[in-house]
Amino acid sequence: MKHPIAILISGRGSNMRALAEACAGEDYPARVALVLSNVKDAAGLAWAAERGIPTATVEHKAYGGDREAFERALDREISASGASFVCLAGFMRVLTPWFIDTYRGRLINIHPSLLPAFPGLHTHRRALEADVAVHGCTVHHVIAHVDAGEIIQQASVPVLPDDTEDTLAARVLVEEWRLYPEALRRALPKG
Ligand code: GAR
Repeated sequence: MKHPIAILISGRGSNMRALAEACAGEDYPARVALVLSNVKDAAGLAWAAERGIPTATVEHKAYGGDREAFERALDREISASGASFVCLAGFMRVLTPWFIDTYRGRLINIHPSLLPAFPGLHTHRRALEADVAVHGCTVHHVIAHVDAGEIIQQASVPVLPDDTEDTLAARVLVEEWRLYPEALRRALPKG
């Protein structure tokens, strides 16, 4: 059986594409029930819509500072789609304990560093500043503490002597596309 998943994005959506392409495989244990964005012109929405994948937008801006009201609207869209599992893929809003509890055990994220190193933003710049030899990406369960949930799977890349933030980000991103479908397969409920 294919588990129906919702993928939450805020922009480009290249990790969403990697997940959607994996889901298109007959033997892959998930299908994309919804691509949901908090930004109405997120590039990934158009890509999904062109392929007949259901899309929706819930703009956080419409809810002022009421994060839980925004998340209740997200939850309504996810529930209406039939999705039972949520993948954050470049979704750039910090979620409240209410949403995280609602989806406990069914909510995963991809982060562009080898957690617990470099939680938060600007991970590639910080990796270069710290002069690490190895960098990478992590898929993890989401808990109330940002970028701190149980790690499902990681992929690493070497940091090269002449790397810039952009070259390093690009090398990590290729690994993200490979990692996320593998980690999702691992995180889905069995059966
Ligand atoms: C990805 O590198 C993802 O790991 C990162 O945003 C990028 C989104 O790209 N996520 C975070 O930084 C989460 N804190 P994409 O929209 O092309 O998938």
